Amino acid sequence: MDYSAAAKLLEQHGQEQLLQYYDELDEAHRKILLSEISQIDFSVIERAKRGGAVNGGKITPADAVTVEDISANGARYEQLGLQSIARGEVAAVLLAGGQGTRLGYNGPKGTYNIGIERKLSIFECQMDTIKKVAGKAGYCFHLFVMTSRMTDLATRSFFKENAFFGYPQDKIHFFIQSVSPACSHEGKILLEEKYKPVLTPNGNGGWYTSLMSAGFGGLIRSEGIKWLNVYSVDNVLQKICDPIFVGATIESGCACSGKVVKKISPDEKVGVLCKQDGEPCIVEYYELSEELRNARNEDGELTYRWGVILNYLFSVDKLDKIDMKAMPYHLADKKVPCIEDGVKVNPQSPNGYKYETLVVDMIKLMGSCLAVEVVREREFAPVKNRTGVDSVDSARELLKLNGVQL
Ligand code: UTP
Repeated sequence: MDYSAAAKLLEQHGQEQLLQYYDELDEAHRKILLSEISQIDFSVIERAKRGGAVNGGKITPADAVTVEDISANGARYEQLGLQSIARGEVAAVLLAGGQGTRLGYNGPKGTYNIGIERKLSIFECQMDTIKKVAGKAGYCFHLFVMTSRMTDLATRSFFKENAFFGYPQDKIHFFIQSVSPACSHEGKILLEEKYKPVLTPNGNGGWYTSLMSAGFGGLIRSEGIKWLNVYSVDNVLQKICDPIFVGATIESGCACSGKVVKKISPDEKVGVLCKQDGEPCIVEYYELSEELRNARNEDGELTYRWGVILNYLFSVDKLDKIDMKAMPYHLADKKVPCIEDGVKVNPQSPNGYKYETLVVDMIKLMGSCLAVEVVREREFAPVKNRTGVDSVDSARELLKLNGVQL
């Protein structure tokens, strides 16, 4: 893109401020700026809205395949799941593009050492479970690793240094998630440097679009992959391509499924799988009204109890049919370091919005979703913070409980 094309584009979108330092820049920085401008998706700003999926519709509880049901039918589900994995119909997608700000660790979260007396990265923990399933199915399924601009290089190097954790290298594919611009409260895109707009990862809901933009659609089709198991990097007990989960989903005929745990309290900070106007949906904890949060059934159970743990299975056929542009953008009010009046400032209070799509919003678009309950202590050990709730400390305790040597 040359200067005049960029200027025209910015004028169309009311973002001319991005070129305000152009004359001061040397040739190399001018090139960077023009290339960055060409990558901006301006529609994000128009699509963005406050709040999420709950606006408007009637919320009702969703059913789930419970732990009791799995005790009775688990063997059948597992058999079905293993057969599908063995045929190469299932692949995994690791969401590792987050910034992990709460953990306060300088590097991709997956490289964090959760071990105590030995080195054990979060990536290694998860790869160990992948190898177990692959061993049982007799087939090493594909793994797509989503990184971001910030985590890409360090993630790839870490996998390489660790010899891909003993998994076939040709089955591990990396791709970088797309970015969205960060704006001032007035809707003007901010500059990180005079030659660089603030472009940040566009949220974990962008995974399928980014996977397709990276050119993996061909591989998915040629390999006959029908299901994608999407999971987050920050759960060290994450079971990936769990055959029981895969089998239960296939048998249900649903287009997607999500692993859930029973919420431990009304205020636990997890999204809840429920229904909105009869369609499956996930309501984030901060969007569920106090009344619904505290509602209980006659037996005393929370009515809205199925908390999601960011482990979903999506049908590829259905993903290809849905309109990803229908995904809402969520605004997060953040402190965004930026150039103001020609100098770099580190704001003390939130000064701008970051725009993110969330994987939870895909559930509604998929049309049908099976909730599958899992045993919390066996499958849910989130690492969000250094200490306290959902932390390195609590995850270590849970790993020990599951017999993992640390
Ligand atoms: P979180 O919502 O916990 O965000 O991510 P985060 O950026 O990792 O952490 P904080 O909020 O800054 O502390 C949940 C999952 O979604 C992935 C993360 O890597 C994690 O696996 N994610 C999040 C992405 O892949 N891309 C994103 O843009 C955001």
